[in-house]
Amino acid sequence: MTTERSLVLVKPDGFRRGLTGEVLSRIEAKGYTLVALDVLTPTREALAAHYAEHEGKPFYEPLVEFMSSGPVTAVVIEGHDSIKGFRSLAGATNPTEAAPGSIRGDLGRDWGLKVQENIVHGSDSPKSAAREIAIWFPHLGS
Ligand code: RTP
Ligand code: MG
Repeated sequence: MTTERSLVLVKPDGFRRGLTGEVLSRIEAKGYTLVALDVLTPTREALAAHYAEHEGKPFYEPLVEFMSSGPVTAVVIEGHDSIKGFRSLAGATNPTEAAPGSIRGDLGRDWGLKVQENIVHGSDSPKSAAREIAIWFPHLGS
């Protein structure tokens, strides 16, 4: 069995709405292990590194504003194929389109803002996961 790690964030909307426990509960119920967890308000610097691929896109500035607007819970999860598995638990980026049963489909909605507030982030590839884990948990070797 190979293990794989993914970086999950419960975004500020999830924190404000009291959904952190619900998200962690779904991760645990799925069978993934929690490796590290931290509650913090992200700096713009950390977010610039985390979202480097989106720099220059129309939603980039609203995204950084939103993500620095309050506490997030950063989590490293572990389990075979956990990167793909968490993306499936999270559902589509747009909560209106996210399937019922997914975190975004069950708990999220479109609020008509400049950026989608969609409760969670999950790494999208092993390369992204290693890069993101190093940003949020520099003490964790990958
Ligand atoms: P994430 O990175 O947060 O797991 O989400 P994702 O892969 O599904 O989406 P991505 O394309 O990486 O976009 C990052 C986050 O930016 C916000 N976004 N808003 N048109 C919009 O309003 C828009 N597009 C992207 C979302 O919060 C998305 O999760
Ligand atoms: Mg993404």
